[in-house]
Amino acid sequence: MCEWCFGPLEVVYDYEAIASVISRERVAAGPQTIWRYADLLPANPQGAVDLGAGMTPLLRADRLGSELGLPELWLKNDTVNPTGSFKDRVVSVALTRARELGFKVAACASTGNLANSVAAHAARAGMRSVVFIPSDLETQKVVTTAVFGGTLVAVDGTYDDVNRLCAELASEYPTWAFVNVNVRSYYAEGSKTLAFEVAEQLGWQAPDHVVVPIASGSQLTKIAKGFRELHKVGLLEEEPSVRVSGAQSAGCAPVADAFVSGADFVKPVKPSGIAKSLAIGNPADGGYALQEVRASGGAVGSVTDDEIVEGIKLLARTEGVFAETAGGVTVAVLAKLAASGVVRPDEKVVAYITGNGLKTLDAVAASCGPTATVAPRLEAFQASVNVADWR
Ligand SMILES: Cc1ncc(COP(=O)(O)O)c(C=O)c1O
Repeated sequence: MCEWCFGPLEVVYDYEAIASVISRERVAAGPQTIWRYADLLPANPQGAVDLGAGMTPLLRADRLGSELGLPELWLKNDTVNPTGSFKDRVVSVALTRARELGFKVAACASTGNLANSVAAHAARAGMRSVVFIPSDLETQKVVTTAVFGGTLVAVDGTYDDVNRLCAELASEYPTWAFVNVNVRSYYAEGSKTLAFEVAEQLGWQAPDHVVVPIASGSQLTKIAKGFRELHKVGLLEEEPSVRVSGAQSAGCAPVADAFVSGADFVKPVKPSGIAKSLAIGNPADGGYALQEVRASGGAVGSVTDDEIVEGIKLLARTEGVFAETAGGVTVAVLAKLAASGVVRPDEKVVAYITGNGLKTLDAVAASCGPTATVAPRLEAFQASVNVADWR
């Protein structure tokens, strides 16, 4: 963080030097992980803290696309990362760099997915971990963090309270790498791989429009940066012009509110609602995300809890991908932006599905159960389930 303006610091690269070594062939010969893009990441791949994050499928989504009126829709399915979210990308980069810099302990302030990922990668690296979460997090996310055996601290407060506490702790314990606080600049760079892989998977082309969920806003700004970098180092021939749209839940929509009201500043809010992974009321990169969206001609939309549940179920029903609440937010906002004409039918659209549905089962548990419960007899099945014309 900049000690003068408290804004995020940026990693600086020598793009000319990178352009002289990087090539599509060199990328293709790399590992099937984010580390195939090591030339554009701020850490040495030799010592990578690596569980295999990245190179997740880019799925053509024709059934969802036809429901939304979008003939060329793609899903970047980051639900299948090692701990089930895109956070494995940023954590792998952050902890690799943190070890290079001599930090001893892996730490973070998390809304859930980051907690999973830091605890798992620390276990993989044989590092101690100290993970801080709000005490009202989903049970699934608590269990899937605690199982890795690190120290897990539930704080009575919002994510923004947790984050403030972690900023204080980072100066008290200088050997602790809080991935999203004192090594945030390196952490954030990991999200560029979400752009790199999409361009590669589209046959070295940028999409026309991407839809990205927003919590702190870091992921969105780095996806936009990622596409630009590919051109700077010669992997994309044409300068890409990717429209970038953001997705928030109505329970925590500071960036969407600023977008809709035309404000230049993001006013902090107190989060509520089921999309806990996106519940950052005072987003560190909110202002930058807003600038990216506006400059690219995108929009930021928000959706209610009911719409989020519908989004999760629509995605699962049409494409076989089960997303956590953040994915429901993305799909529901995409549906709204398509209906209002912001996302257009003539565009090649990519929706980023960033977290796995098994982590937020409660969101859909009430409305997802067996079609019928029957005695173990043919007649009982036929009496309860209508499959008469399925032969
Ligand atoms: C599943 C998921 N998607 C998206 C985000 C948003 O990331 P960012 O804070 O970079 O905006 C988060 C943040 O925790 C998340 O857990």
